[in-house]
Amino acid sequence: MEIFRHDLVVVGGGGAGLRAAIAAAESDPAARIALVSKVYPMRSHTVSAEGGAAAVARPDDSFEQHAYDTVKGSDFLADQDVVEYFVHEAPGELTRLEHWGCPWSRNEDGTVATRAFGGMATKRTWFAADKVGFHMLHTLFQHSLRFEGIVRYDEYFAVKLLVEEGRVQGVLALDVRTGELVVFAAPSTLLCTGGAGKAFPFTTNGNIKTGDGMALAYRAGVPLKDMEFVQYHPTGLPGTGILITEAARGEGGYLRNADGERFLVTRDYGVGTKAELGPRDMISRAIILEIEAGRGVQGEDGEYVLLDLTHLGEEKINTRLPFVRELALTYAGVDPVREPIPIRPVVHYMMGGIDVNIDGATDLPGLYAAGEAACVSLNGANRLGSNSLTECMVFGARSGLAALRFAREAGGVDEARLRARAEESREGVESRRGRKAGTVRISELRRRLNATMEKGCGVYRDEERMQETVATIAELRPLLSEIALEDDSRVFNTEVVAALELENLFDVAEAVAGAALARKESRGAHARRDYPNRDDQNYLHHSLVYHDPSRPRLATKPVALGRFQPEERKY
Ligand code: FUM
Repeated sequence: MEIFRHDLVVVGGGGAGLRAAIAAAESDPAARIALVSKVYPMRSHTVSAEGGAAAVARPDDSFEQHAYDTVKGSDFLADQDVVEYFVHEAPGELTRLEHWGCPWSRNEDGTVATRAFGGMATKRTWFAADKVGFHMLHTLFQHSLRFEGIVRYDEYFAVKLLVEEGRVQGVLALDVRTGELVVFAAPSTLLCTGGAGKAFPFTTNGNIKTGDGMALAYRAGVPLKDMEFVQYHPTGLPGTGILITEAARGEGGYLRNADGERFLVTRDYGVGTKAELGPRDMISRAIILEIEAGRGVQGEDGEYVLLDLTHLGEEKINTRLPFVRELALTYAGVDPVREPIPIRPVVHYMMGGIDVNIDGATDLPGLYAAGEAACVSLNGANRLGSNSLTECMVFGARSGLAALRFAREAGGVDEARLRARAEESREGVESRRGRKAGTVRISELRRRLNATMEKGCGVYRDEERMQETVATIAELRPLLSEIALEDDSRVFNTEVVAALELENLFDVAEAVAGAALARKESRGAHARRDYPNRDDQNYLHHSLVYHDPSRPRLATKPVALGRFQPEERKY
């Protein structure tokens, strides 16, 4: 088995991974950094981000206000030391991106333009029209090419963390192009593999978001934190789940029910005068309640409500929201200049992830994580839109530096043992290829997992449905070893990759459902009909889920409070 030797292995070539690799390479030009990605980096999911990245830019704004908005948005579950660091670093990170070529949209006077986003007190979201992820990812990718120390391994799928002597010393990966297993040997590994929206049937997430890094860390004994908090974005296209950016509301769009009523204004959904610019958890719930009350519009793909941009005018839509227009025309057959866009809440983001500290370090020496794969506790129970791209920059950079520092201190790796450990896993991967004898198809098993996740862990939850979901996941899991695989080729055997991804989704789903069942309160995105109130007395803590082959083990961890004490969350 081939061994690639590096100081640091970064798994994931999206926003966080690229930023981490660049930070590490800048700090030490002699460092040998592997950037391992299951897709070509420009296909990472960051590319599909639309609306913008948050950072204080205007004279009417302050770090304190950004911190307060973030903590309040998190329903007081964010760690406030993390939030303080984040808001202070954010403007520098976004300015640095501009120096590297990111074409932020401008005001008339040449300053960087910012737009309103949900739950933010002022216009704080930097943007490049409504294709922000595309521009940020291009900028990062092209800048990364300057560093000889960054060696890219595109289309390598990470299969397992190699743990020796109590620390991570490498990663076993499948070279998708050849079908060969290889070892990335390094004293430090940083997981930047994104979220796991594909555990759900209806999501803005691309097919690649299968919780790979979360599952790798989980199986290696690292807990997943705050997994019960799954963000529904209020405005996805029915049927496809394609994201219609929050920027549409930031630029002045309205939400209307079937009667044409701006229900966030006329009814009390807790968003106050923020109306369409309330936080995502509250707006998603309001839409579901409108539909349940019979005020939704019936469509081929179920009921929906309307996002009305018609009053904004063609010029504004074309300059500020061209991608929204393109998506609505192409995928909903609607021109937003003339008619409202059908929308409904859709799974968008995992607030939870691999439990890491502010340096991105897990409790397993040599293992780091950043971006959506990680839970550094910036977002708590509900993330504010546009904080996550900035999170990828701020904590990608910090984690990259910390991980490289660790590599310098940890010394070498034991290659012979790594090779032996990797060989032990060979059969597990090889035996999947062309395993025609199985009884269940990947798509069927994924569909059943998706269905139970939506039923038990949707926008609204209750004990009975969550228990059913926990039980269904446990029932379905043994079928993973019964999957039938038709393709026995080695080259680009995407069926084997899909089978491995499905295993990862099962691990993530198990953690989400287990943590959700244990939290008997409503907080942020975790809304229980049977426990409708927040309960700080008993639940002002992070949840941890540890992997156990028999049954996941649950634990808790204190929240780091700071200058903002928990208060009733209303807008
Ligand atoms: O709606 C959006 O553009 C999404 C932004 C985000 O999730 O940060």
